[in-house]
Amino acid sequence: MSREPEASSAQTVRYEVDSEGIALITIHRPEKHNALNRQVLAELDRYFWQARQDEDVKGIILTGAGDKSFCAGADVQQFTELDAYSGHRFALYGQAVFNRVEEMPKPVVAAVNGYALGGGFELAMACHLRVAADHAVFGLPEVSLGLIPGFGGTQRLPRLIGRGLATELILTAERISARRAFEIGLVNRVVPIEHLLDSARELVHAIVSKAPVAVALALEALRQSDLPLRQGLRLEAALFGQACATADFREGVSAFLERRKASFKGR
Ligand code: COA
Repeated sequence: MSREPEASSAQTVRYEVDSEGIALITIHRPEKHNALNRQVLAELDRYFWQARQDEDVKGIILTGAGDKSFCAGADVQQFTELDAYSGHRFALYGQAVFNRVEEMPKPVVAAVNGYALGGGFELAMACHLRVAADHAVFGLPEVSLGLIPGFGGTQRLPRLIGRGLATELILTAERISARRAFEIGLVNRVVPIEHLLDSARELVHAIVSKAPVAVALALEALRQSDLPLRQGLRLEAALFGQACATADFREGVSAFLERRKASFKGR
């Protein structure tokens, strides 16, 4: 692919696509630790949509500007306006944006470059994989503010690390290091900050070299791995059937039998 990186100057989120089809989405509000106000959420949503629609984009890396914070959560300034009704709406909106991240049919890797707190941690959880800088810090401080996590934390964290540890992290609002996050299976890799994006790129490359439709179907199956077992197995079988109908499946098998590298077309 010969496309040069393209960059936009949107105010709070930056979007660029490199010549290998990896989109880099950067939350760019470093003076506020990349906190999520409505504008950031809307721009994130827009760029994830763009990355989804652009056939040249094969995978996505999400990060924060600077080396202090990936994202320090929802913008606490905006909390002063919230009541029962608007709080409910706000949580539903944030969840909808993060659901669309999770439902991306292309791999999404969070490159966690510092604090991932509250909604920032929840956003990292909505990504398919997480690579963290070794100084990154994860935490859900909501109960310290008289709140609970509202952008998916009470649901995604127990699914990722089990209910016992998730209960402790949510109820104590304890912050944990990148190393600890790795030990409990929350992040896939921990690297020095200077290698963070390269490590995330390496992970995306390892995935995008595989059959794209198979990757999308595997993501769909994994997303639903909290279904009751029999139901989950039925879904897996149906998605397996869909994979069998692809040209890439025939190509993958032929390439294996002919001892050559497969050339996938994404069909
Ligand atoms: N919402 C809005 N503004 C935020 C913010 C957030 N979630 N997190 C940080 N900021 C702002 C601060 O208010 C401050 O703004 P100011 O310069 O206009 O006063 C600026 O970012 C710098 O933050 P500061 O606290 O001075 O930086 P620090 O390096 O001492 O601490 C954090 C960094 C991220 C640990 C700390 O800012 C923090 O705990 N943030 C809140 C995290 C949180 O509770 N998020 C969940 C909300 S549910």
